[in-house]
Amino acid sequence: MAPVLEITGVEKHFGGLPAVDGVDLRVDEGEIVALVGPNGAGKSTLLKAISGLQPATRGSIVFNGSEIAKLPAHVVRHRGISMALQHPRVFESMTARDNVMVGATFGSTDRPGEDEAREMADEALGFVGLGAYADLPVAGLNLHQKRFLELARALAGRPRLLLLDEVMAGLNDTELEASIDMVRTARDRRGLTVIWVEHVMKAVMSLAERVVVLNFGRLLADGAPAEVMTNAKVVEAYLGKAIHQGGVDG
Ligand SMILES: Nc1ncnc2c1ncn2[C@@H]1O[C@H](COP(=O)(O)OP(=O)(O)O)[C@@H](O)[C@H]1O
Ligand SMILES: [Mg+2]
Repeated sequence: MAPVLEITGVEKHFGGLPAVDGVDLRVDEGEIVALVGPNGAGKSTLLKAISGLQPATRGSIVFNGSEIAKLPAHVVRHRGISMALQHPRVFESMTARDNVMVGATFGSTDRPGEDEAREMADEALGFVGLGAYADLPVAGLNLHQKRFLELARALAGRPRLLLLDEVMAGLNDTELEASIDMVRTARDRRGLTVIWVEHVMKAVMSLAERVVVLNFGRLLADGAPAEVMTNAKVVEAYLGKAIHQGGVDG
């Protein structure tokens, strides 16, 4: 099977310093891949390079058979990639529905009309459990709800590839279970492919089919969760620290 995403030699430099330093990665259609690694490893930068929000300095990103590395974010979005950001940028004074309608409206080239966009938004809000908040300004939502709103906004554009950046950070156990369920259901129902940055190991072990570890902008490991998480290099770079400190921050 041809991969849905094929990344080759991707680098992203900030002021000459590499944040992502030559990453190769293939992802098949329908896979759920967790991207883990210490704080500052380049995880968010890699996702932003894929989504076009901060284009790569060098390297190739092929999505569904076409090169997208140099395309602006809105074009990448139209090709079927959407991203939920680590630090959600929501429109505070707008309602939850209007926020998600923006995602629904700008997610594709065959722009839905207002009624259809509203329907798509309500469906996405219901899906993430925020149906009751549709008419309320986003300013009244707590951080966890804003993360779910960000997820709804990303899903409302009906992407083929969903990039999630720490959408589960700081959730309690019930919220965590619910969000794991949401991502799995979205994949199963829509045949989505998911790459998701995660620090919560419980979530990684329960949801990921494959784990990719970044360290200093480079790929340290790539494989089945149980295998990767016991890999000596990974334990040394990341998990050892996590276990000793009772968690990692990102
Ligand atoms: N916009 C930016 N300008 C300058 N440096 C940045 C920028 N974004 C990220 N970096 C740097 O790139 C490195 C990787 O950051 P990031 O991708 O956010 O890591 P992670 O998401 O794995 O914690 C860090 O050293 C960070 O300081
Ligand atoms: Mg990050």
